[in-house]
Amino acid sequence: MEAPIGCAVIGYGPLHNFGWAHAAWISATPELRLVAVCDLDSARTEAACRDFPGIRTYNDVTDVWADPDVQLVSLVTPHFTHCPLALEALAAGKHVVVEKAMCLSVAEATKMIEAAREADRMLAVHHNRRHDGNYRRIKELVEGGAIGEVFHIELAAGGYYEPQNGWYREKSKSGGGFYFWGPHAVDWVLHLVPSAIVGVNGYFHKLVWHEMTNEDQTRALIRFANGCVADVTWSTVAAVGKPLWRILGTRGGILDYGVNANPFYERQIRGPSGGSLLLVTCEGHARSEEWVPYRDCDWPTYWQGIADHLLRGAPVPVSGEFGRRVIGVLEAAERSSQTGQTESVPYE
Ligand SMILES: NC(=O)c1ccc[n+]([C@@H]2O[C@H](COP(=O)([O-])OP(=O)(O)OC[C@H]3O[C@@H](n4cnc5c(N)ncnc54)[C@H](O)[C@@H]3O)[C@@H](O)[C@H]2O)c1
Repeated sequence: MEAPIGCAVIGYGPLHNFGWAHAAWISATPELRLVAVCDLDSARTEAACRDFPGIRTYNDVTDVWADPDVQLVSLVTPHFTHCPLALEALAAGKHVVVEKAMCLSVAEATKMIEAAREADRMLAVHHNRRHDGNYRRIKELVEGGAIGEVFHIELAAGGYYEPQNGWYREKSKSGGGFYFWGPHAVDWVLHLVPSAIVGVNGYFHKLVWHEMTNEDQTRALIRFANGCVADVTWSTVAAVGKPLWRILGTRGGILDYGVNANPFYERQIRGPSGGSLLLVTCEGHARSEEWVPYRDCDWPTYWQGIADHLLRGAPVPVSGEFGRRVIGVLEAAERSSQTGQTESVPYE
């Protein structure tokens, strides 16, 4: 394969400008070239043309599959379309980057992984938020041993509001309440804890927002073979909040309110910089506290990683197999919420 690699973005939606973000990341990566944007809605492809003059636009994915200049597609469409579109793209010989949530079930993830293997094409999941500034600092501190051995992680987000965004409210299309922010949080946890998952407990609540089919609150407790337990909660009925991150280790802890760590979709290829987290370190009973600045957000690095993989054989930035572990946790949490039992995951 030779640079520049021809790319098409499928899905140029208005809700988070995320099709724009993919097109902008591709355009900012010298070895990638934005060839086309496809969306079912012609108003959206007209918007893409204004944003990226000179590109081709399509309103039917079969035209993307037939375009010989497109070698890679990124799928920025609703969750329920990810698996079927990825299978079609791979069958047409295209490499695939798929947005989170990778798909709606482990069974779908496995189909996607096998299709990529059969077609000898890349399947990468867009877990870009590993490149958020606060997460990059957390990863660096944890890996550097700043708080000793991590045994407890809490991650929580949301608030008290009825989600308004179209298909995101419909469980059959979105996958449910856990599939919007949950994939980011579970990916962070699995990326941070170098251990196999031994069990998942889930607690789902449907109590207040009856006009939508998503759950109001979803929570997963993930137990790892090394003894670490992670507690991930997404809520739209949390009248009282808690920090985004609370991490405990044998020699300290990290507290992060996530202020200024939220992604900023308004036509920026990097999230905002700034913000800091509280690092507490303990030596016996001696304790010290320090506010540590976030690192910079470096989302474009993900796309350089895609080019490095396709052109020079570097590892896929986030493989389909890793993405499937994330979906496995979401699925096991839902099963556990129904059975009341600890559930295992098929891919630890
Ligand atoms: N990684 C992140 O931080 C992040 C942030 C926001 C959204 N996302 C993800 O991006 C994806 C899209 O979300 P969104 O908020 O942009 O949604 P959206 O509804 O704004 O956009 C989806 C677009 O896809 C188009 N579409 C649907 N089916 C299609 C098809 N078969 N062919 C062509 N176009 C089709 C729709 O017309 C729409 O314009 C989701 O997976 C979402 O979770 C990720």
